[in-house]
Amino acid sequence: MKLLFINGVNLNMTGIREKGIYGAQTLDEINAEIAARLTGDECVFYQSNCEGEICTSIHNAQQEGVDGIILNAGAFTHYSYAIRDAIASVTVPVVEVHMSNVHSREEFRHKSVLAEVCRGVVCGFGKNSYVLAAESFKL
Ligand code: DQA
Repeated sequence: MKLLFINGVNLNMTGIREKGIYGAQTLDEINAEIAARLTGDECVFYQSNCEGEICTSIHNAQQEGVDGIILNAGAFTHYSYAIRDAIASVTVPVVEVHMSNVHSREEFRHKSVLAEVCRGVVCGFGKNSYVLAAESFKL
């Protein structure tokens, strides 16, 4: 399967920011581990801090033959109607991911404006959330 992993705003700071929550590994290290665990799949990794660029990567996934998108939109999850509409505009299925358990954190993180247009949501398993979401496309 061709799987597109999209990481949104501030996820480039993984391994540097709030290590107690997101761990000490960088996003590149996490991505390398994911690719090593999903050897049978073509894994494509993309990160952007810009809402519009994330929308464009979702639009392009359709023409690029992506079978599934694993999306950690970071804080955009909680308020980006633009990303929500981008997900709704493509037929490629999207699974929303969070490394932390957003429901055990601040109240503003309990609400996702994306979840309703996603196939499912995985949160709380650290870097393994990405792998669990990827595996869901094979069920
Ligand atoms: C996050 C949770 C979000 O609430 C937060 O804004 C992030 C990371 C996670 O992976 O746990 O940047 O998406």
